[in-house]
Amino acid sequence: MVKEMKFDSNSLSLHKLKHNHIIVKFAVSFLLIGLAFRLFISDSISFSSSVVKSQPFAETRTESPLPVQAPVSNELQENESQTSLKVKCDLFTGNWIPDSSGPVYTNDSCYAIEDHQNCMKNGRPDSGYLYWRWHPRDCELPRFEPERVLDFMRNKSWAFIGDSISRNHVQSLLCILSQVEQAVEVYHDEEYRSKRWHFPSHNFTLSVIWTPFLIKATTFEDINGISTSEIQLYLDGLDNKWTEQYKNFDYAVIAGGKWFLKTAIYHENNTVTGCHNCPGKNLTELGFDYAYRKALRQVLNFVTKSDHKAGVFFRTTTPDHFENGEWFSGGTCNRTIPFKYGEVSMRDVDAIMRDIEMEEVEKAAVIGAENGVVLKLLDTTQLSLLRPDGHPGPYRQFQPFAEDKNAEVQNDCLHWCLPGPIDSWNDLVMEMATTHGMYR
Ligand SMILES: *[C@@H]1O[C@H](CO)[C@@H](O)[C@H](O)[C@H]1NC(C)=O
Ligand SMILES: *[C@@H]1O[C@H](CO)[C@@H](O)[C@H](O)[C@H]1NC(C)=O
Ligand SMILES: *[C@@H]1O[C@H](CO)[C@@H](O)[C@H](O)[C@H]1NC(C)=O
Ligand SMILES: *[C@@H]1O[C@H](CO)[C@@H](O)[C@H](O)[C@H]1NC(C)=O
Ligand SMILES: *[C@@H]1O[C@H](CO)[C@@H](O)[C@H](O)[C@H]1NC(C)=O
Ligand SMILES: *[C@@H]1O[C@H](CO)[C@@H](O)[C@H](O)[C@H]1NC(C)=O
Ligand SMILES: *[C@@H]1O[C@H](CO)[C@@H](O)[C@H](O)[C@H]1NC(C)=O
Repeated sequence: MVKEMKFDSNSLSLHKLKHNHIIVKFAVSFLLIGLAFRLFISDSISFSSSVVKSQPFAETRTESPLPVQAPVSNELQENESQTSLKVKCDLFTGNWIPDSSGPVYTNDSCYAIEDHQNCMKNGRPDSGYLYWRWHPRDCELPRFEPERVLDFMRNKSWAFIGDSISRNHVQSLLCILSQVEQAVEVYHDEEYRSKRWHFPSHNFTLSVIWTPFLIKATTFEDINGISTSEIQLYLDGLDNKWTEQYKNFDYAVIAGGKWFLKTAIYHENNTVTGCHNCPGKNLTELGFDYAYRKALRQVLNFVTKSDHKAGVFFRTTTPDHFENGEWFSGGTCNRTIPFKYGEVSMRDVDAIMRDIEMEEVEKAAVIGAENGVVLKLLDTTQLSLLRPDGHPGPYRQFQPFAEDKNAEVQNDCLHWCLPGPIDSWNDLVMEMATTHGMYR
């Protein structure tokens, strides 16, 4: 299980004293990253500013694909405006509202929760974070109905492709669906990072493929995630771990993310073209955003031009909520209620990543449409940003304060508790998949 958490171990287990020098190295890198961004990214990129820009109703109306007709009666007008709003509903803008019904599963009713995200079992004392529901501003998001989804998925195959956050996401889906039918694990790789399950009575196959860069990469990390050499990233090659299986999937949820922030040497066309964060190497610093954009272009080009027509969702970057420090310097996340819409700003790195994702997916979706491939954005960044209360924090470990109330424990403010806010990502993606064409 330890081995499964490469990103975690890298980011979260480094507090061991013997690795102190590495912490310093990482700390310095992160400071440099931060500094670099402040220098070349204007502060106009922030959550608050993008909030102000999106004027809901005006926009939705003018963008409506439905012909605007003169209303014959009030009733018709009402029905029509309802329909057109629904057609253009932006599922990703809204607020979290209190919901007394709570999660559909618990640590007792789901076997699939990874220990590090099993906040209930690990003794997280508060439970208020479980009683919120995502409420899009302009429409209702129906509750996830596992029966309906499983029926819809009969004879189909669904894959989550990405890093440990994608695994977090698949476990949430497994937990929700397993309230109706228990899945059978039919495959796992040596390190238990990629897995496949089958729901026998629905003949539904669910996979998670661990490929944190999506493109070809060589990493030199030991079992604890300690890196002995820089990552080598091949910006013009895809990771065949997922591309070889792609033709088997009816649906895929693909995500990139935080691994691109790590120190890496960039290769293109069989030559080293530069790097990210490699002082002393006499290489051109190209920035992680350069590599991220190139990687996404390749990934999206592959899926939109493929002869295999899958339904593809690209999930946007997930924000972390470390406060009073970073993951390597005692950062915590002990808030117990969500933020309100507009109350918090996205960090620079998340804003940069999400901007790249939005731009590239928007462009690729047009090409996909020409080729009969439906590509949609699963834009969970902003709604997740509002949930600082949804992370394990110190409860990534079992009973972290059992022996010492003041124990210094590593916090996880990046992954999500299960059950927790990440369950809403599945409400959204299943609504989008099963109610075709209703949402942007
Ligand atoms: C409008 O919707 C209501 C139910 O939502 C329905 O009873 C009524 O017939 C609809 N009117 C028209 C003109 O479609
Ligand atoms: C689930 O968590 C509760 C504490 O919230 C604990 O008492 C119980 O033993 C846990 N169940 C399992 C199966 O770990
Ligand atoms: C699922 O596959 C079986 C066997 O091929 C077929 O009989 C059945 O009609 C299929 N069901 C759906 C909903 O496609
Ligand atoms: C299960 O679904 C696959 C397609 O994903 C189909 O080829 C197969 O015939 C189905 N099996 C049964 C028993 O329905
Ligand atoms: C790759 O390099 C070769 C020779 O080094 C060159 O001919 C070719 O145009 C390059 N291809 C790209 C895509 O840059
Ligand atoms: C750095 O690289 C450039 C061009 O590749 C080369 O001309 C220069 O000598 C290198 N400097 C050092 C200190 O290696
Ligand atoms: C939250 O953590 C901060 C330090 O990071 C601490 O000062 C504060 O007291 C904590 N709040 C609660 C409710 O534990």
